[in-house]
Amino acid sequence: MSDAAPRSRQDQAKEQAGRQAARYVEDGMRVGLGTGSTVHWTIVALGERRPDITCVATSLRTHELATSLGLSVLSPDEVGALEIAIDGADEVDAELNLIKGGGGAHLREKIVAQMSARFLVVVDESKVVERLGAFGLPLEVLPFAPGVVLDRVRALGAREIARREGLSDNQNLLFDADFGTIDDPAALAARLEAIPGLMEHGLFLGDQVERVLVAGTDGVREIVNPRVSG
Ligand code: A5P
Repeated sequence: MSDAAPRSRQDQAKEQAGRQAARYVEDGMRVGLGTGSTVHWTIVALGERRPDITCVATSLRTHELATSLGLSVLSPDEVGALEIAIDGADEVDAELNLIKGGGGAHLREKIVAQMSARFLVVVDESKVVERLGAFGLPLEVLPFAPGVVLDRVRALGAREIARREGLSDNQNLLFDADFGTIDDPAALAARLEAIPGLMEHGLFLGDQVERVLVAGTDGVREIVNPRVSG
């Protein structure tokens, strides 16, 4: 008898979504590998199939997982551009705007997503929301002047800002900012990007998302972005 704990429905859904996204990866592609427990299964599926691909990893743990499964992982500069990137998300709204960074990897994730011609997102149903904000917005901040940076974030409407333990892979500080419901993700993103020392925020705008694979109790549905051609 196995003594492994039974897996939750959510964990099973994450595996379904993650594995389904791996089907978009074909021989010869340069592939961006995201971070988190859903895209974990995309990487596992690629490790099982071993297509002839070159990968870029969005975190040290993804790098470790991918290389342990025999995938070829190079640095972003060695690869230059990607045909496809696949990543998880913490929230997805109706316009396919995302909150990312629950795992603290959003700076590298954003670089990799922007390197890619196609950006696919894998989530379970619990991540789909009407409007962003309940999750809290991950922020990566340079350790030089965090108090100054966070005062500016508060001036944009953050009610509470909580520091996370530890540092990012880039040796920066990580915070979660509670903005309440985010009515205009693009406007908030632009204001946050104007703050020096705020290395990155977790808002990813829908205009770069090609499709979202959502796993629920009835299997995986795909939300395709009509504004982004695949
Ligand atoms: C990592 O920093 C995040 O952006 C993840 O992609 C996000 O938190 C989703 O993670 P899970 O798939 O583990 O929910």
